[in-house]
Amino acid sequence: MTPLAWPADLGPVVCVVGARPNFMKMAPILRAFATAQPPIPTLLVHTGQHYDKDMSDRIFEDLRLPRPDVNLGVGSGSHAVQTAEVMRHFEPVLDENRASCVLVVGDVNSTLACTLVGVKKGIPVVHVEAGLRSYDRKMPEEINRVLTDQVADLLYTTERSAEANLLREGIRAEQVRFVGNVMIDSLRSNREHARSPADTLAAAGKDSACLGSKHGYGLVTLHRPSNVDQADTLQSLLTTLREVAAKLPLIFALHPRTRSNISKFGLEHLIDAERMILLPPQGYLEMLGLMRDASVVLTDSGGLQEETTALGIPCLTLRENTERPITVEYGTNTMVGRDRTAILHGVDEILAGGGKRGRVPELWDGHAAERIAADLGPWLIAHHQAN
Ligand code: UD1
Repeated sequence: MTPLAWPADLGPVVCVVGARPNFMKMAPILRAFATAQPPIPTLLVHTGQHYDKDMSDRIFEDLRLPRPDVNLGVGSGSHAVQTAEVMRHFEPVLDENRASCVLVVGDVNSTLACTLVGVKKGIPVVHVEAGLRSYDRKMPEEINRVLTDQVADLLYTTERSAEANLLREGIRAEQVRFVGNVMIDSLRSNREHARSPADTLAAAGKDSACLGSKHGYGLVTLHRPSNVDQADTLQSLLTTLREVAAKLPLIFALHPRTRSNISKFGLEHLIDAERMILLPPQGYLEMLGLMRDASVVLTDSGGLQEETTALGIPCLTLRENTERPITVEYGTNTMVGRDRTAILHGVDEILAGGGKRGRVPELWDGHAAERIAADLGPWLIAHHQAN
């Protein structure tokens, strides 16, 4: 039987966030842990992988995330440096805090780094959003996913295909729990607070005429190294987006990596200032509003593929593969890669009223974090008593 109080000699769950897409996953988990019976104590660690006001602080505020208990302040670097710095700074945090387990989300460098530290110290590691696979080992995130899942103890999944992937990789079925999607918990609890695109554009000092255009507007985000790190690839994508913009005005929320590469490769001339509105990275509530009211979202983000499916907004994914196949099978997502014809055809179809309607996937119901809390609390207590 689960006790009424958390055992006094069982330490907190050390919850790790590092980069922007982690924050919306962690917010509902912390809330669910605080209200679980008994409440699950937590220690929130921000590795500092993302550190800008735009990429981090503002999103913390929007999500009403508590201030991190610890900030490792690692910042940018090559993958090796970033991963190593997180590991080096994370280890003493575990030493000082008698962690009952390390909880990581998603697939960023911080996810893998903290997993490695935890598992080598014999501390259970819990991975939320486990088992997603693009089967593209050139993606840094895919390496992070595969390695994290191999050594984590408990794996919480967002869609059924993830469990099948894990079992194929030799993970035992008892380690895997299908709980739904914590990112959609955040979306559902914040939907009514979404900021209107008119306010967002006004705050950025941009003209909002595009909002009144015949077909509305398209929302673009691009940041994957495979799309933005080579001059010719980025050039060809921007050229295609310029063609799209001739039919449908585009609002482009620019990731720092993309902004810096556009300028490094001298591609500013491809931005049609009349039809392509460039914005800095947006807050969570601004992005929710921009997605909710868009006619189509063009993106290479993992998160936006899921959020558009939950919102019922057509999404064209500018990648060759997705680790989130349910958004294509059930949702509003279509993979168009980087192919000009496929992208333009996808947009034309949506403007003609034929975009995918989609359904909301199983257990994307706003209660995934509560299911994790209900499962993890008793598991940790039982694990503690057994050891
Ligand atoms: C990281 C994640 C990716 C996630 C993305 C969301 C990895 C391997 N990648 O990619 O999975 O989808 O975050 O944004 O962990 N920068 C800033 N300000 C910041 C953060 C970064 O200017 O607050 C700049 C850095 O200087 C760097 C570039 O953006 O040059 C990329 O940052 P980095 O953390 O390396 O990876 P992302 O591309 O953001």
